Amino acid sequence: MTAPTADRYTRTDAREKLTGAARFATDRPASTHAVLVNSTVARGRITRITLDRDFTGVRLLTHENAPRLGPLDEGGQIAEGKVAVYVQRLLPLQDDRVHYEGQPVAVVLADRLDLAREAAAAVRIDYATEPAVTPADADPADARPARDWLVPSSSDTGDIDTAIAAADLVLTRDFTTAARHHSPIEPAATVASWDGSALTLHDATQSLFAVRATVAAVLGLPEDAVRVVAEHVGGGFGAKGYVWPHVLIAAVAARLVGGTVSLALTRAQSFTAHGYQPGTRQHVLLAARADGTLTAVRHHSVNTTARYAEYPEFSTVGTRTLYAADAIETRTSVLPADLNLPTPMRAPHEGTGMFALESAMDELAYALDIDPLELRLRNYAEQDPTEKRPFSSKELRACYEEGARRFGWQSRPMRPRSLRDGDELVGQGMASVILHSVRLPATARISMDPDGRVTLSAGTQEIGGGTRTIMPQIAAETLGIDRDLVTFKMGDTALPANLYSVGSSTANSLGSAVRAAALALLERLGGDVRPPAETVTVTETWLPRPSDHSVHSFGAVYVEVGVDADLGTTRVRRLTGVYSAGRVINPLTAHSQLTGGAVWGIGQALLEESAVDPVLGRFVHKNFAGYLLPVNADIPDLDVSFVDEYDPHAGALGGRGIGELAPIGVGAAVANAVHHATGLRLRDLPLRTVEALTAG
Ligand code: MOS
Repeated sequence: MTAPTADRYTRTDAREKLTGAARFATDRPASTHAVLVNSTVARGRITRITLDRDFTGVRLLTHENAPRLGPLDEGGQIAEGKVAVYVQRLLPLQDDRVHYEGQPVAVVLADRLDLAREAAAAVRIDYATEPAVTPADADPADARPARDWLVPSSSDTGDIDTAIAAADLVLTRDFTTAARHHSPIEPAATVASWDGSALTLHDATQSLFAVRATVAAVLGLPEDAVRVVAEHVGGGFGAKGYVWPHVLIAAVAARLVGGTVSLALTRAQSFTAHGYQPGTRQHVLLAARADGTLTAVRHHSVNTTARYAEYPEFSTVGTRTLYAADAIETRTSVLPADLNLPTPMRAPHEGTGMFALESAMDELAYALDIDPLELRLRNYAEQDPTEKRPFSSKELRACYEEGARRFGWQSRPMRPRSLRDGDELVGQGMASVILHSVRLPATARISMDPDGRVTLSAGTQEIGGGTRTIMPQIAAETLGIDRDLVTFKMGDTALPANLYSVGSSTANSLGSAVRAAALALLERLGGDVRPPAETVTVTETWLPRPSDHSVHSFGAVYVEVGVDADLGTTRVRRLTGVYSAGRVINPLTAHSQLTGGAVWGIGQALLEESAVDPVLGRFVHKNFAGYLLPVNADIPDLDVSFVDEYDPHAGALGGRGIGELAPIGVGAAVANAVHHATGLRLRDLPLRTVEALTAG
């Protein structure tokens, strides 16, 4: 392998994006513009839909005249055993039922966007409204165990009652996390073209092939009659992971008008057109001996879901693995409300769950008068305590130590309210980080031409994480050639099939396939990269083998906050995060992922909340005036880094997932730091230090 130099790491799409040359879905010309009309009530039936006045050249599609779609089976699977799972389950414009506020109930088509918007504003809908259940008034007794989906919904290790009885101290605490929205810079959009027999979709998606399979099945087309293209995607964070109703509406409309239809969500529509992170309620029990050794850990969570489909937020999943304890019990439940369906949001599962577990661990540390870092070290898991398997690789101890050293944890006084800087009460807190590794089958094709140029192809998508940059880098490094000799074709279902860009899985999964393909090419070339007489092409699929190992990424995050003693406002003064994720493939894009992730975590800790109106059953804020996000002034210097590590089991490159690592644990570290600063325990995200402090 050639040793990479700094400039070889830079993003290959940086110039395109900075100059505006990068093309996103709606940068395609369209003959027809589609504007969605959304329900204004949370539950009921549509009794009448009319256009207030006459519009020339405008078509109105409603459940009364839209083409029939589907069908879906009971589980929301597409009929006839197709691979696609349309998790939303409700096919758009099929009947008069309203299941949530913001449901697309009509679409206006016109040859000009302004005309379509004007007509959409003139659509009048009458409803027979029914009482809606909001997350606030959903009856906790209606919570039901989540289905096993990505992971089992519950787990039991050891005898929990015996383990609790063996403890010197039992601490139980309840926590909540707020519903939040992803809000990528590019709202989701689809430009669909029908040429008489086939559809082409330019779509802002995290999964080209899921869009293809779903659209084909729902419209009754063969899969090869649907092509999906996503040259650039302006962020996803989970919002674009599944196929949502607007994609199907754009496809239906294109076939109906026999041309190209552009459908872009507005920012306001983005709050209901696709999923969001559901609010959670979590209960944690920690039972420990006087020396801090955990005997039992219990973690139960319940999250809001829609009534018409289920999304389980597996907040308890990290708790199964993080600490050694004689007994560990986890349960995940869902509680339906008349609200749109939630979905994974960076970081799902551990991102909500570690707030509860790591806040409770800090409370236990104070109850036992043990340094919070020392308490973690005393319960360090040498193997996965639930799966009873060794870790593929785990350098969490090094993360704790390196993070403590960089942050200066050793000089932290244990007692709350012992640090002050002018008007600010200063506090320091820490938390552990764990992220289960999602690994997906991946396929790459590679060829070398007689002129020595290499073409790498994969039907994956760049959602901002750096896929476009690192895949040719991996091919070049494996072949031992300059990266400039490699052209990477991606973002098109005409290329080899790949799965979702989710779960921090792409670098490891597709990267492993790229390495396998490059090694196969080398072998075909006789072990030498001398250009062949004729083009040589190889295709390799990488499959994550069922492993004898437990595969997780880890980290430790240390935060210092300042809480204004009079106003109660909190700001993060500094943050140190050190992470264990195996080999780092590209230091530049990896560092960007950690930085963005830490900012994301600060938003979760202090600002972000999608409140639901208790009467109307709708999200209150549908813009950034009411939905608060951190801005540059909220973000201090972030000291984020990796420990040196090579994971021989997770993939072919020695690495593991990193994209969703850095948001995890920040909420707990900030809450623990707020306690250290003020003496107050806040157990609800976002932390409301102003209310807590000024309440006296
Ligand atoms: Mo991520 S929330 O799995 O796109």
